[in-house]
Amino acid sequence: MKFFIDTANLDQIREAQDLGVLDGVTTNPSLMAKEGITGRENILQHYKDICAIATGDVSAEVISTTYDEMIKEGEELAALHEQIVVKVPMIKDGIKAIKYFSDKGIRTNCTLVFSCGQALLAAKAGATYVSPFIGRLDDISTDGLNLIAEIRHIYDNYMFDTQILAASVRHTMHVIDCAKIGADVMTGPLSSIEGLLRHPLTDSGLAKFLADYEKGNK
Ligand code: G3P
Repeated sequence: MKFFIDTANLDQIREAQDLGVLDGVTTNPSLMAKEGITGRENILQHYKDICAIATGDVSAEVISTTYDEMIKEGEELAALHEQIVVKVPMIKDGIKAIKYFSDKGIRTNCTLVFSCGQALLAAKAGATYVSPFIGRLDDISTDGLNLIAEIRHIYDNYMFDTQILAASVRHTMHVIDCAKIGADVMTGPLSSIEGLLRHPLTDSGLAKFLADYEKGNK
């Protein structure tokens, strides 16, 4: 299972990378804006800065919504760095663009996926990754994890190569449940990764081991 961090914050990307378990980074226009990264040149430079820190795939999202514009923008993003994966929204022109990129060997991440039908289309178009947003489904009383399970079933039926990238992961239990279901990748905040570390019995066990060592080595 790959771990991606879902942020444009360079400090958090560095921290996750330093932990040694990071396989990539996902960003989106909202996350870029949150970091105050505005203006085309600054945004492109920020993607390069992310690639300089992280060693894995870095999703860079197009903001165009028509086929021709998405192709132009996606090719520009892909040319920035070999780690870049072009993130394309699940719309009709987006599917056409994914097919174009796939035929050209440019890797893609189909984003804003909320149904099995959308995931099936993304795989048919040759997307490298499909991003079902589990947290946003949970937000509207719909089981996001169930969508991951259903897509897993469909992809396994036909041995699609498209990797299921569980997105909009909000917390540690999402990560664990995605692992149980068999999501290929999860992307979430740093807290969702660091939360995996914690257990009170680990803390109390370590404190006792260290205390006993101290007693025996006075
Ligand atoms: O990157 C897309 C997705 O992960 C967004 O997550 O928390 O804004 O629903 P969230």
